Amino acid sequence: MTAIDTAILSPDPAGLSRAAAVLREGKLVAFPTETVYGLGADARNDAAVAAIYAAKGRPSFNPLIVHLADVAAIGRYCEITDAARQLAAAFLPGALTLVLPLRADAGISKLVTAGLDTLAVRVPDHPVGHGLLQVFDGPVAAPSANPSGRVSPTTAAHVLAGLSGKIDAVIDGGPCAVGVESTIVDCSGDRPVILRAGGIPVEALEGCLGYPLAAPADPLVPISPGQLASHYAPKGAVRLNARYAEPHETWLGFGAVDAALNLSPAGDLQQAAANLFEMLHQLDAMGAAHIAVSPIPDHGLGRAINDRLKRAAAPRG
Ligand code: TXA
Ligand code: MG
Repeated sequence: MTAIDTAILSPDPAGLSRAAAVLREGKLVAFPTETVYGLGADARNDAAVAAIYAAKGRPSFNPLIVHLADVAAIGRYCEITDAARQLAAAFLPGALTLVLPLRADAGISKLVTAGLDTLAVRVPDHPVGHGLLQVFDGPVAAPSANPSGRVSPTTAAHVLAGLSGKIDAVIDGGPCAVGVESTIVDCSGDRPVILRAGGIPVEALEGCLGYPLAAPADPLVPISPGQLASHYAPKGAVRLNARYAEPHETWLGFGAVDAALNLSPAGDLQQAAANLFEMLHQLDAMGAAHIAVSPIPDHGLGRAINDRLKRAAAPRG
């Protein structure tokens, strides 16, 4: 692939209309959401969606989330189930992705769904991401804007570090407030299934529904194909639940510990989520070859953080 100039666009009306024009040409634009930066393409354009897979080096069986400007647009592409209606009313726009039956007349590229008969949809709660979706006025397929298997980007600089020369533009909207990807719930069947822990805690979703979410049928064969074991990985080897760091290790701490980097000295899970990917990027920049990570409580946003850390520590393929 020959290198292209990656334009850095400002998050103002001129930048947004330029970005929307780039999308209409079937090209790629990275943009901020409240979770992480997405790498967007027109979800109706096969060639544009194929370019996402090429830029990321992503395995082609991995389907993409379609981003929409507002909740009302979901019904144009999907059948809406009762659980989806309840969750959408309570949490959208926000860090929640719903998997729903794909409408036959949706007009979404088959490369987006990887041939599944369901579609993952999300309505981001970010002024710049939302602004782009409004100006573009169509469905935008967007995975996280990082090379496949690497740490998700929470700043425009992270996007450029991984994809400069491979994408047409990035809109610089500053750091992402949530910092971990959206929670994914499959609402296409009788009982909603949690596919990925993320920015909206599972407890909050269950509180809204009034019953527990089901686990994927076979945890060894994840329904969400993106849930590959080694994922979100920094370059160094990762050791979890570390109460201290060995001399050869760089410590990524949590809580009141004297670590090289600390996700949240105060032990605040929201702050830790917002810092997680930035600090994994920093560990790469520091050249950390061995990384020790403090234990993180496994509730609320801690579930999403631990999910990402387990993948970062998984054996590399
Ligand atoms: O916060 C987020 O969700 C970010 C921002 C950019 O929106 N996006 C993101 O996309 O994390 P990505 O591509 O990195 O992860 C999407 C996940 C993958 O695990 C994929 O397998 C799953 O969504 N997925 C997509 N469509 C699906 C479907 N129809 N059924 C089940 N899982 C699906
Ligand atoms: Mg990703």
